Amino acid sequence: MTKKLVLVVDDDDGVRRYLSHLLSSLDYEVRGVPSGETALASLAAGTAPAAVLLDLAMPGMNGLEALDRIRASHPRLPVIVLSTTAQISTVVDAIRRGASDYLTKSFQDEELQLALENAIEKQQLRQEVAVLRRRLDREEDGFVSTSARILRIKEIGRQVADTDAPVLILGQSGVGKEVVARFIHGQSHRAGQAFVKVNCAALPEDLLESELFGYERGAFSGALTQKPGLFELADGGTILLDELGEMTFHLQAKLLHVLQDGEFTRLGGRQPVKVDARVMASTNVCLDEAVAAGRFREDLFFRLNVIHIEVPPLKDRREDIPLLARHFLRQYAVRYRSAVTELPRTLEEAFLAHDWPGNVRELENAVRRFVILGEAETSLAELRRSRTVAEVHSPGRDDPPHADATHEARPSDGLSLRKVGAQAAEDAERRLLRRVLDQTRWNRREAARQLKISYKALLNKLKKWEVADPARRPLGESAAPAAAPARARDRAAVAFPAVAGVRGRGGEGPAPWDQGAAKSHRREEVVLAPKRWARTVTR
Ligand SMILES: Nc1ncnc2c1ncn2[C@@H]1O[C@H](COP(=O)(O)OP(=O)(O)OP(=O)(O)O)[C@@H](O)[C@H]1O
Ligand SMILES: [Mg+2]
Repeated sequence: MTKKLVLVVDDDDGVRRYLSHLLSSLDYEVRGVPSGETALASLAAGTAPAAVLLDLAMPGMNGLEALDRIRASHPRLPVIVLSTTAQISTVVDAIRRGASDYLTKSFQDEELQLALENAIEKQQLRQEVAVLRRRLDREEDGFVSTSARILRIKEIGRQVADTDAPVLILGQSGVGKEVVARFIHGQSHRAGQAFVKVNCAALPEDLLESELFGYERGAFSGALTQKPGLFELADGGTILLDELGEMTFHLQAKLLHVLQDGEFTRLGGRQPVKVDARVMASTNVCLDEAVAAGRFREDLFFRLNVIHIEVPPLKDRREDIPLLARHFLRQYAVRYRSAVTELPRTLEEAFLAHDWPGNVRELENAVRRFVILGEAETSLAELRRSRTVAEVHSPGRDDPPHADATHEARPSDGLSLRKVGAQAAEDAERRLLRRVLDQTRWNRREAARQLKISYKALLNKLKKWEVADPARRPLGESAAPAAAPARARDRAAVAFPAVAGVRGRGGEGPAPWDQGAAKSHRREEVVLAPKRWARTVTR
């Protein structure tokens, strides 16, 4: 460890020599200067002492003036003043001006040692507090919660941030899985590097493979140049594999290789590419059940399931609703230059009573709508409609004819004829979709073919309408755990206890592949930290 430097400022050679000898014996490095002017010049030249010992009575610039100038240029540097007993009033003045401590020149050696240790330690503590405060501020930016379960997730996130271990984040759609992943990344030593998010459900297998692992020139027709994969872009940073449950077996094997050996080969390539990317994965399906059903590799599951975080649905942490609503209100009021500063009481009460099947994303959208429209009544009608849709779509429930929007609509809902028509069409579409899915035993590609829509469009509708395969129990519905999943859970619990139970699936926000990127069959974001939310590059 490097020694701490003490700058001794005293015009008396004898005092400087004595202090130099004493401090060296206490394991400090010492630099002695004869005046305030030389002390300031030395600091300006880059000398970085841990503390300054400053004589008050010096010819030329006196000690108090030197103190003022040091405080101005180095406000956090501890300065201990040295005085004679005759200068007590000057000492009081020095303390007022920000000196850390004082010693009369008749000090005992231990007094000097103690004064220095105290001053340096106090400064270190101040610095630590400042770092923690900055961290807290940064957290407040994007991760709002008062719920004990989420605070525990934050705590675990902080603990595991620097371990580089894979993290598996589970939870319903819109609960904030990505927020958790970004939080962990932001707390880690990788925070200054890329955070790359890939939606595994949004791309067909071959495209996802080339996006993840890149390709060599000539790997396939159209591969005119070499292209690095997203794993390479995440080198030194973090990659979040969203909707991992949708990844095919072939890609699961490649992913396992990266996790085991930290390397992969580009498509059409032979040379292994080394990467140091921390892998996180998120999903809203029960991976352990997918393992039991043979849809997900058990070895990959165990590799990923080192740290396992379950984000609870919003309805199970209602205390977060007002806090999040205020957070989004502030955020969108600024974005849309709105004068709205608070939620009307009726709306806040309705928010608190609502079940939020789409979780935080649904709440965010509701607040955003309110900020844009500025009318509580429209927002209340939307909430009623959302509740109706959620009830109609609750898994295992048939679609009763009376649940149609046409039957439910009341003038007070503020639904226009066009909206009612659109809702009725949507209901009909949804019923047909479910029937075809049942007929095809949930073969989604076959269902898409029969319905003459693209596979992506079908996934999109399933997500939007919360239609889940009853055989693939979504997170949130109880079922007796099979033998293998039970083992998997135990192992996860040993590695790291699950944070909170997650039950139920919901989601009302736009499906990720809705957002324009799907048009080009590309949907990855590369977000460069530390401006974590600021710079998003969509490839
Ligand atoms: N605790 C939170 N504080 C602030 N914003 C949040 C919080 N949780 C979620 N959000 C916001 O809610 C929206 C949905 O969050 P996020 O994308 O992380 O959910 P998700 O669980 O990954 O959803 P999906 O399953 O659809 O991928 C985002 O806009 C996010 O910023
Ligand atoms: Mg997500």
